[in-house]
Amino acid sequence: MTNPNHPFLAACRREKTPYTPVWLMRQAGRYMKEYRKLRAEFSFLDLCKRPDLAAEITVTPVERLGVDAAILFADILLLLEPMGVPLEYTKDDGPVISHPVRTGADVDRLKELDPDRSLPFVFEAVRKSRAALNGKVPLIGFAGAPFTLASYLIEGGGSRSYIHTKRLMYSDPGAWRNLMERLSRAVVQYLNAQITAGAQAVQIFDSWVGCMSPEDYQKYVSPHMSATISGLTDGIPVIHFSTGTAGLLRLIRAAGGDIIGVDWRVNLDEAWQQLGYDVGIQGNLDPAALLAPLDEIRGKVGEILRRAGGRPGHIFNLGHGVLPDTPVEHVIAMVQAVHELSAR
Ligand code: CP3
Repeated sequence: MTNPNHPFLAACRREKTPYTPVWLMRQAGRYMKEYRKLRAEFSFLDLCKRPDLAAEITVTPVERLGVDAAILFADILLLLEPMGVPLEYTKDDGPVISHPVRTGADVDRLKELDPDRSLPFVFEAVRKSRAALNGKVPLIGFAGAPFTLASYLIEGGGSRSYIHTKRLMYSDPGAWRNLMERLSRAVVQYLNAQITAGAQAVQIFDSWVGCMSPEDYQKYVSPHMSATISGLTDGIPVIHFSTGTAGLLRLIRAAGGDIIGVDWRVNLDEAWQQLGYDVGIQGNLDPAALLAPLDEIRGKVGEILRRAGGRPGHIFNLGHGVLPDTPVEHVIAMVQAVHELSAR
């Protein structure tokens, strides 16, 4: 059992904590030699499909870095294959979908997700991670947001301009709505199954929604994000994360979430003021700052904590995932700096 008053869970409820809790997106990844060693032997997907190894990768950063939460080792794209869209993780280009969704007929061919049947290894990894964490820190489950998943499905991989995504959205709004509703249902099923298996908070990654105008966000994204968040099991904190969304913060907050994740392109105090203090905030150190010398890192941590003003409901994190080149000692120093400089 994790203590329900653990600083991470208390911060999710905007309660006072003895120090600001901290974890890092992609805290389990290629910058860590323990991970690279396993990756030399297994493919990324094999690691995701082996609950014993996924749990080991989930727990290692907690022990190594001293962070206040674990995030499940998995990926936002795992649910695409059981929805009928095979994908590959290539070495250099990231995920690649060779038959992307481009038409209404493609959308209609997608299958409903039955997560317990098709992704049992994810939930077994949740149970094994909880057992291995043994109550030390809470476990965060996660999924991609409908928009970010749709962008991968339609583009066939990462993108700069999201041209195919926007073309479908504008030219066939019915197909777009159908796609977003299907993805929203899948994400709700998937996250609720993670929660049933033992996830104590969930983060929804809308990593690429910053490419949208406020008007289009409201029209094409927001209803589906609201439906997703309101479909989740009550009482489990939801972190709503995105990047490049300084101009969308009010709309993002209105779509839902207990904690709003922000990146480093906005000052944390200005972001929080716009969001309102009746919601928590997560962020927002530039991941590249971890390449700086240690005293510089400490200074930047102090600056973010100053902007948070000691208000309850701040969870310290990077503004996006740890970069593969990051020295692990710098991550450890950052976590220590957060704990020391925020102690109250
Ligand atoms: O945060 C964690 O430590 C938990 C694990 C986690 C992974 N992916 C493992 C992973 C999480 C939370 C994710 C989320 C994810 N996956 C997102 C949202 C976050 C973000 O970065 O915006 C997205 C967009 C993906 C899709 C994805 N998966 C991409 C674009 C890539 C390739 C590029 C990259 O950063 O490696 C992946 C592969 C992936 N997911 C790796 C890991 C550890 C690297 C795989 C490898 O070992 O080669």
